[in-house]
Amino acid sequence: MTDQPFITTVERHFLDRKGRNPHATAEFSWLLSGITLAAKIIAAQIHRAGLVDIIGRTGRTNVQGEEVQKLDEFANDTLVRCLGYRDNVGLLVSEEEDEPHVIKERGESGKYIVLFDPLDGSSNINANVSIGTIFSILARDPKVDRNDVLAHVLQPGCKQVAAGYVVYGSSTVLAYTAGAGVHMFTLDPSIGAFVLAQENIRMPEAAKIYSVNEAYEETFPENFRRYLRWAKSADGGGYSMRYIGSLVADFHRTLISGGVFLYPSTKKSPEGKLRLLYEANPLAFVAEQAGGLASDGRQRILDKKPTAMHQRTPLVIGSKQEVERVLRA
Ligand code: AHG
Ligand code: MN
Ligand code: MN
Repeated sequence: MTDQPFITTVERHFLDRKGRNPHATAEFSWLLSGITLAAKIIAAQIHRAGLVDIIGRTGRTNVQGEEVQKLDEFANDTLVRCLGYRDNVGLLVSEEEDEPHVIKERGESGKYIVLFDPLDGSSNINANVSIGTIFSILARDPKVDRNDVLAHVLQPGCKQVAAGYVVYGSSTVLAYTAGAGVHMFTLDPSIGAFVLAQENIRMPEAAKIYSVNEAYEETFPENFRRYLRWAKSADGGGYSMRYIGSLVADFHRTLISGGVFLYPSTKKSPEGKLRLLYEANPLAFVAEQAGGLASDGRQRILDKKPTAMHQRTPLVIGSKQEVERVLRA
């Protein structure tokens, strides 16, 4: 037996929870391997971007009415292909697709639903700024009619079985939670595996950092404007502002360094810009599992009952004390 320490991959880490989490089974671990495989393929393309014809627009717009970048499409196709072969995945929901993919009727085995933003931060692709993938995993409710696809998909975030994200940055990092803490893995390209980097990450309780696109400040609801005026005032205690423009990168910084990320409703996006099912819910699950909070300004993100697949929500997410400060404003 070599003294080589065991390499704890994402799949193995989750399987180690056997006995403590009912979903910690080999079949679920196989599902996770569909996500990590897709992430490795997407990372490889991103790190070759510029060398291969992957930068640029496809000339099409998606259900959100947004320009579809080639990498958005590539990431989406990769996730659909990698997850389509996991026979316990019954439904896929993607930011890039109008309707859910019903993988194919698989009887009981198709019990999991994977919802994802295949490529977050698309506007940053050409500028070599960090971008990401966000995923959320639900289980079908056996009491609900199998054919009522939307009833299975429109579950509140508190029902998530697992959730996480990948940041394609200077290194490729994956963070996930399955309800027992947040754990972070770094892709080791030399072995092509996500290797455990940190377990049970705790978000700092407080940090004087806020993250918001100030360009829309004038159209934010008054309570958010009041908070921002305070944070920038002399007695606000010297906050600094950080905004990357890729939600995953802004969130990952918040998880590691603390602070609060805000995307309030604006005149341009009266419901907020970020999507509930595959942006706010997964990150809210991670935030809470790391000791942080996530709200839409009125209620806990994870309590929101979705009414539409691509519905948007305002988002205030980050350190407990910082989110509470915003909500008190
Ligand atoms: P996506 O690329 O998946 O559409 O997400 C982009 C989102 C999110 O990543 C980021 O926080 C936000 O758009 C930035 O929006 P603004 O450019 O309006 O600040
Ligand atoms: Mn996004
Ligand atoms: Mn996206």
